[in-house]
Amino acid sequence: MSFDPVARWYRWMEYAAFGRALERRRFAFLHRVAGAKRVLILGEGDGRCLERLLVAAPDADFDIVEASARMIALARARTGDCLRARFYLQDAVQVGEFPSAHYDGVVTHFFLDCLTERQAGEVVRKVVELLEPGGVWLMSEFSIPPCGWRRWHASVWVEVMYWFFRTATQLPADSLAPFEKILADAGMCIVESEEERFGLIRSTVWAKQIGR
Ligand SMILES: C[S@@+](CC[C@H](N)C(=O)[O-])C[C@H]1O[C@@H](n2cnc3c(N)ncnc32)[C@H](O)[C@@H]1O
Repeated sequence: MSFDPVARWYRWMEYAAFGRALERRRFAFLHRVAGAKRVLILGEGDGRCLERLLVAAPDADFDIVEASARMIALARARTGDCLRARFYLQDAVQVGEFPSAHYDGVVTHFFLDCLTERQAGEVVRKVVELLEPGGVWLMSEFSIPPCGWRRWHASVWVEVMYWFFRTATQLPADSLAPFEKILADAGMCIVESEEERFGLIRSTVWAKQIGR
């Protein structure tokens, strides 16, 4: 699996398909990590979110685990090689040890949908262990509403996207894992959420329950 072949075009494909909707979702809750000191980003992509995070969380250092060298190059160029952002060219599923044992924020936007259910479960459980009690996880993902025409609408989009990304990047996943159940089972609870495009795109703020 590699996003290298699509890295340069990723942003423009996104705008063509969704306009600014994915950006609204990515940027929706960045203030929730304003006071963070150490934030882990998985699958950052081309650095658009990191650029905003560096401003939104001025005291934070960022560890970015990203499997695409081209995405890292784009993110570095966008953020001017900022010393507060450290990039790790790694597969998050294969990581033995993350760069730090403690984080007070985690950010994953349109990353968990790249993983199979088993992979997503493993990554979430490992990362929740590193998150301080009360720490937050900002997540945006595609989602399929439970019923009606919204379900039909979202299912068609999700099918098309998996077809495209499996062809272009050899993505291992072919459907959305139950991300919210996986996070809840790992001890996280939803604090706030928003959705758009009739429930197709959903951003959520999760907090690690105190005492877990
Ligand atoms: C769909 S893109 C999302 C990029 C960006 N976060 C966004 O909001 O658009 C998925 C990103 O996650 C990275 N990625 C996918 N699987 C990964 C893995 N197992 N480990 C690390 N990065 C991964 C890809 O290289 C790509 O940059």
